Amino acid sequence: MNRLSAEDVTLAYDQRVIAEQLSVEIPDNSFTVIVGPNACGKSTLLRALSRMLKPSRGRVLLDGQVIQSMPAKKVARTLGLLPQSSIAPDGITVADLVGRGRYPHQGILRQWSTEDERVVQESMARTGIADLGERHVDELSGGQRQRVWIAMALAQETPLLLLDEPSLGLAPRMVYRIAEVIREINTQGTAVLLVEQNAGMALSLADHAHVLEVGETRLSGPADELARTDAVRRLYLGEAAEDQGAA
Ligand SMILES: Nc1ncnc2c1ncn2[C@@H]1O[C@H](COP(=O)(O)OP(=O)(O)O)[C@@H](O)[C@H]1O
Ligand SMILES: [Mg+2]
Repeated sequence: MNRLSAEDVTLAYDQRVIAEQLSVEIPDNSFTVIVGPNACGKSTLLRALSRMLKPSRGRVLLDGQVIQSMPAKKVARTLGLLPQSSIAPDGITVADLVGRGRYPHQGILRQWSTEDERVVQESMARTGIADLGERHVDELSGGQRQRVWIAMALAQETPLLLLDEPSLGLAPRMVYRIAEVIREINTQGTAVLLVEQNAGMALSLADHAHVLEVGETRLSGPADELARTDAVRRLYLGEAAEDQGAA
């Protein structure tokens, strides 16, 4: 069953159309990647999939419901999003930032609980930052900071996690570290949608892949099949690829 899908969506900023008739599917428990060159519309698609951008045509379904018709808090309990660039509030500690992931589970009557505390500790442990809780986020390395954001998204305890280029700009060692963390999150039962410019890395990690080219899905299929074809390389180089592709 698909947890999340975009059906024939057109995505635009005012009159500027970024993508037309785009369809993607994120099955339950799956690990899906969306790869494509810079500025092809990957982040725009994630915005639409997370209810931040309303498609001008078509629809996005979350667990069978049109996402635009769902209350924000319900969406936040089902779908966690790590945007491409996130800025932490000045002077916040790691544990406090991770704790903000618990917001969708709180309400007027439901204040901070031992369960919230447990989930925060567990999220930090799963991302390898358990000993950084009292540190200030702004004094961490890029790789540590990115794991804090992932921990915050994990603390949201959603069955679906959307990540927008979480290892962009990091050293190769940290790229692998973060890939491992994400892989493990998926193995433990969370459906993951990872957006990546680095196709080689992404295709080696995922089960299923969608490849975008300037806003249109050109290829989609099992990641290992796409990795074996020449089509992805040709897309990045701007060559026609109609006769290639896995599905
Ligand atoms: N808020 C915005 N308003 C207008 N155009 C935007 C906005 N955000 C992104 N764009 C444009 O949309 C296109 C796709 O951007 P984006 O989705 O960020 O691509 P990617 O994540 O694949 O690099 C780019 O040409 C970009 O300049
Ligand atoms: Mg982007």
